[in-house]
Amino acid sequence: MATKSRGKVRTILISSPKGGSGKSVLARHLLVSAAQSGLKTLGLDFDRQQTLAKWAARREKTREAFPDFASAPVQPASLQDWRGALTMREGRDLVIMDTPPSVEDHLPAIDGLGLAADLVLVPSVCTQDDVEAVAPWIRALSEKGLRATVILNRANRRTSSFGRMRGTLIKAGQVCPTEIPQLEDIHVPSVKGLTLLDYSKSRGIAPFEEIWAYVRREVGV
Ligand SMILES: Nc1ncnc2c1ncn2[C@@H]1O[C@H](COP(=O)(O)OP(=O)(O)OP(=O)(O)O)[C@@H](O)[C@H]1O
Ligand SMILES: [Mg+2]
Repeated sequence: MATKSRGKVRTILISSPKGGSGKSVLARHLLVSAAQSGLKTLGLDFDRQQTLAKWAARREKTREAFPDFASAPVQPASLQDWRGALTMREGRDLVIMDTPPSVEDHLPAIDGLGLAADLVLVPSVCTQDDVEAVAPWIRALSEKGLRATVILNRANRRTSSFGRMRGTLIKAGQVCPTEIPQLEDIHVPSVKGLTLLDYSKSRGIAPFEEIWAYVRREVGV
């Protein structure tokens, strides 16, 4: 279903103090959901490793042969020039910013991007180590007046630790009602610059659809 642009760009910052929490996985699934909804999207990849930008380059290659896959462009960006990067948002409906894990080393830039964003998403793996880092981070974001939501990742509802970790995070701030489960095949479509959402029959697509529904309501696109 195509959605009309409402004229104002909406911006989402994905950030976490923990590495490997699922920032880039979340960024690419949101970009594809938004593009499939007819929005003009842009990813900004502030991570020097360029995980998201490389994924998008592979996607462009795949789209040369299979143009039906929705376009989800990503531009590399630098935390040193975060103000300049924000100017690339012009003309887009939704911009998703992916960041490196070392937020403490780049606080002024991350704060600036957070203030420019309509929503900050903080993916968190459901382990003690991750939650110990994410709970104070989400508190700090809300003390700065930013709207931030935790997205639980690699979750297994059958474990008792899941409930405990979720409870700790709910006390710290907003938590998205849908979590991303542990999905062993999540990395497979990425080889071709795709996501689970590019295959309508993928196992594991429902949580990403729900998270997109949540996010788009939160930012109003
Ligand atoms: N729900 C999941 N199920 C299984 N594997 C996952 C899941 N989410 C992420 N992963 C895997 O975990 C690894 C880290 O994910 P990702 O690159 O998205 O994290 P990141 O937060 O962007 O990492 P970095 O901090 O290094 O940028 C990847 O190999 C990814 O495929
Ligand atoms: Mg990453």
